[in-house]
Amino acid sequence: MTVPRKIGLIAACALGGLMASPAFAQEPAPAPTRQELAGKPWMNTHLSAAERTQLVLKEMTQEEKLRLVMGYFGTDLDGKHYKRPKESLHQSAGFVYGIPRLGIPNQWQTDAGVGVASQRGPNVRERTSLPSGMNTAATWNPEVGFAGGAMIGAEARSSGFNEMLAGGVNLVREPRNGRNFEYGGEDPLLAGTIVGAQIKGIQSNHIISTLKHYALNDQETGRNFLNVEVDDAAARMSDLLAFQIANEQGQPGSVMCSYNRVDGIYACENPYLLNEVLKGDWGFKGFVMSDWGATHSTVQAANNGLDQQSGVPFDKSRYFGDALGEAVANGWVPQKRLDDMAGRVLYAMFEHKLIDDPVTGPKNNIDFAAHAKVTQNDAEEGMVLLKNDNALLPIKTGLKKIAIIGSHADVGVLSGGGSSQVYPVGGMAVKGLGPDSFPGPTVYFPSSPLKAIQARAGGAQVTFNDGSDPAAAARLAASSDLVIVFAHQWTAEAFDVPNLSLPDNQDALIAAVAKANPHTAVVLETGGAVLMPWLKDVGAVLEAWYPGTSGGEAIGRVLFGEVNPSGHLPITFPASEQQLPRPVLDGDPKKPELRFDVNYSEGAAVGYKWFDLKGLKPLFPFGYGLSYTSFSYDGLAAHWADGQLTVSFTIKNTGAVAGKDVAQVYVASPKGSWEAPKRLGAFQKLALKPGESRKVSVKVDPRLLAMYQSKDKTWKIAGGEYQVTVARSALDPQASVAVKLPATTVDVNGK
Ligand code: BGC
Repeated sequence: MTVPRKIGLIAACALGGLMASPAFAQEPAPAPTRQELAGKPWMNTHLSAAERTQLVLKEMTQEEKLRLVMGYFGTDLDGKHYKRPKESLHQSAGFVYGIPRLGIPNQWQTDAGVGVASQRGPNVRERTSLPSGMNTAATWNPEVGFAGGAMIGAEARSSGFNEMLAGGVNLVREPRNGRNFEYGGEDPLLAGTIVGAQIKGIQSNHIISTLKHYALNDQETGRNFLNVEVDDAAARMSDLLAFQIANEQGQPGSVMCSYNRVDGIYACENPYLLNEVLKGDWGFKGFVMSDWGATHSTVQAANNGLDQQSGVPFDKSRYFGDALGEAVANGWVPQKRLDDMAGRVLYAMFEHKLIDDPVTGPKNNIDFAAHAKVTQNDAEEGMVLLKNDNALLPIKTGLKKIAIIGSHADVGVLSGGGSSQVYPVGGMAVKGLGPDSFPGPTVYFPSSPLKAIQARAGGAQVTFNDGSDPAAAARLAASSDLVIVFAHQWTAEAFDVPNLSLPDNQDALIAAVAKANPHTAVVLETGGAVLMPWLKDVGAVLEAWYPGTSGGEAIGRVLFGEVNPSGHLPITFPASEQQLPRPVLDGDPKKPELRFDVNYSEGAAVGYKWFDLKGLKPLFPFGYGLSYTSFSYDGLAAHWADGQLTVSFTIKNTGAVAGKDVAQVYVASPKGSWEAPKRLGAFQKLALKPGESRKVSVKVDPRLLAMYQSKDKTWKIAGGEYQVTVARSALDPQASVAVKLPATTVDVNGK
């Protein structure tokens, strides 16, 4: 497979000798100790982060301010004239020099959202991986998001990092996007809530987390040059709303601007995105770092809101190096702005306690066994049971022969590729898989579904077939009582999948196996939605996403009913690509430098909203997910008081086993005056024993009842009668009630 490399590397190297050595003289005197610093005014922990920032800024030289806004790559680029700073951590994503004389630590930056990643190479860190971000979104459980964030943040800290480049919340507008697995799905409320919780968890370790990729970076094809055209109000009600909610709930120390252009201007020098929306309207006080290779200028970028250039040598120049110093000296960039840039970095470091509770180098103190349980719980709550005819699952006792087929299920589970790649403790389960350059290799984690199944199969004989020969697999299937076929779709940063079909002839494999034995369950390990031409012929389908470090065990437990599946889709599974707003992906994967526009003419009607608007029937709707038990809803009521809509109802577990339900509240406007017939207004996941019932009460964010008004930056709720529906998916309403809302206006932040 040929995939585009990170932009700018070749160009940068062609400039010759891009060294990571800092442009400042080494510290003349030894750095003061913490005791010596203790009496300094900016070290006073009773002052606010903003006050401390101003105090320390006063002490800083111009060179020191410039130092804080220049980021290096933490990995050698062999033969390319680039050596990482010696103080950086090997095979890491980023490094920024600190100011030891003032007690300001270096910034050690690591990818990414599922755990502590390593850049590819022979000496990778082995760490715990969460399931994909998509899986965590499918839990619909912010507590799971927080717990996972807290766990990977602890590993980052133990590994010597004080910044995680984690918090991807780009909406799934394009189901073929190779990075959808890193994100939180297609709905702004769900994605913003889950990703916000994860950021909060990461930062509970006194390190910074980074909301990314801001913004509208929704496909990888042509990501460095494409231009997104979208109306302000539509963006504020969709992609930007996801960022806004994640920012409010997670309070990230930093935000990473993205590769693409928006309305003709690169995101990392886009005054609308950075100065107006993020820092102005939302009041973001932390710093904006560029994606690696996404800085394109000095004066424009600095004045339009970029605070830190990241990842030299991926850019064409050291824009925020000497060039920025000169631009300030010449008055092209005001001194006040440089103070603001450095001040924002400092603010985030004070606010998130990087200065008061500094990371003190890598430690060998990770409790991998405990962390394996955290990721396992996430995987178990995020797997989605899509089909289960005649209760094929959970697997019954007393079977004689079980066949396990395909996708290296004998040894491991798949993960998503690219900069977020976490390498597994104990090494990769399958060695030698490509691609040989970024974003490879394809990594399977050594958590064997086969072993997990064997351990629970009682006396049954469990046989594995690798699936490479559909006829042989079908013969095994025909002689078995139950067949479990594993199917996979590897997705990764830097490329999109060409279509939504499973690769490598797997549809034919599944069809052949299902024909030989209808007692076939399919377990999918995919980045997002796939088509299922064989769906009617199989008994059960379990979407296991990329299930992380303990994925094999989690799959085994769900298949045997030790865990009752409770994941619900955070995306729509289309029935065909023809149903998408853009049936053909814009751009050309063979021409990564092509400049083209992607017109979001669907506006805010993303995902299920588009399907509703057009009356399209998806393969599986947003919010969908089966359980081994059943639930009923009762007593739905909605009332408006003090500018707030509250919805309450009772859920009962009406089946025979304990389970968790995701109650989804959808809201619909009076005259169908929104971008689409309905929106997710609130949700709640809760665990219920058999026969147990509980009352639920949720509040609907006023922005989800309103239309955004660009002209005065408000959200306006039209007066009238709204429909409130509690549902088990976007297409499975359980009860509806009407509620009258008065015409109401809230500010840009929904207050
Ligand atoms: C990715 C970012 C990542 C950065 C550093 C870029 O290619 O888009 O998500 O944080 O590299 O590795």
